[in-house]
Amino acid sequence: MSENLTNKVALVTGSSQGLGAEIAKQLANEGCYVYVNCVHGIEKARMVVKEILAGGGASEIFECDITDEKVIMEKISKIKPVDILVNNARLDPYNRGADDTEAGWFTKILSVNLVGSYLAILAVIDGMKERRWGRIINISSVQAHVAVPRKLIPYSASKAGMHALTRSFAIELAPYNITVNSVAPGMILTEGIGSRLSEKDIEERNERIPLHRGASCKETAQTVIDTIKASYITGETVNINGGLWLAP
Ligand SMILES: NC(=O)c1ccc[n+]([C@@H]2O[C@H](COP(=O)([O-])OP(=O)(O)OC[C@H]3O[C@@H](n4cnc5c(N)ncnc54)[C@H](OP(=O)(O)O)[C@@H]3O)[C@@H](O)[C@H]2O)c1
Repeated sequence: MSENLTNKVALVTGSSQGLGAEIAKQLANEGCYVYVNCVHGIEKARMVVKEILAGGGASEIFECDITDEKVIMEKISKIKPVDILVNNARLDPYNRGADDTEAGWFTKILSVNLVGSYLAILAVIDGMKERRWGRIINISSVQAHVAVPRKLIPYSASKAGMHALTRSFAIELAPYNITVNSVAPGMILTEGIGSRLSEKDIEERNERIPLHRGASCKETAQTVIDTIKASYITGETVNINGGLWLAP
């Protein structure tokens, strides 16, 4: 059954830019009240909220570091009860600081991508259980499934961990009509892709993708919305990677 999301309250972590911003906008188009979350990019988040409001939607900024347990629990308890949580925030695996040690960088990546997602789920599920309705999406990556170059191992491990969250919470929360799924994209053509990959890298990747292109933010966000609306799917991973993970 495809559900109507009008008047549902949605929180999209890391939605000041990229895929998160597009998911926030599409949820607003579906009639949701949308919390746009970030820590650093407040100006960008303001622009996302402004665009939603200009289009007749309802939205506000939710400034919160999802890795800080005390802060996230407190802040989520003070906003409208969240019906839809999209765990989208991440540390960019290509942005390792010059001073980061191996353990330090691995821990930072896990802390945003995995621990932050776990904490956000814990912060919203009591309310969802009471209302007996909830939708949780963990944005993973094709890199959770495949072997990766050394520098991407912490990222790949963090994304594989999100699948563990999806499986276990799906079973725990199913009796309360709360579904939990992962959406695992391949290469997404976000506005930030140029800072990570050169034109040549993108061309090489396109060659390896069976559909010979990256995904647009719009089509990836649409897959997230479709998964939220699919009320009988839980504990699953929806792969949107142009066939990349099956390619020889
Ligand atoms: N881009 C791709 O090709 C691709 C491919 C596969 C999967 N994915 C997945 O898709 C999702 C979105 O990717 P993207 O490229 O759009 O991401 P992105 O541009 O790197 O944006 C990440 C977002 O996370 C936020 N963030 C970082 N640390 C945070 C924290 N502690 N608390 C709250 N927010 C935090 C950032 O905001 P601030 O820094 O302002 O706080 C930003 O809004 C990610 O989960 C990513 O792993 C992306």
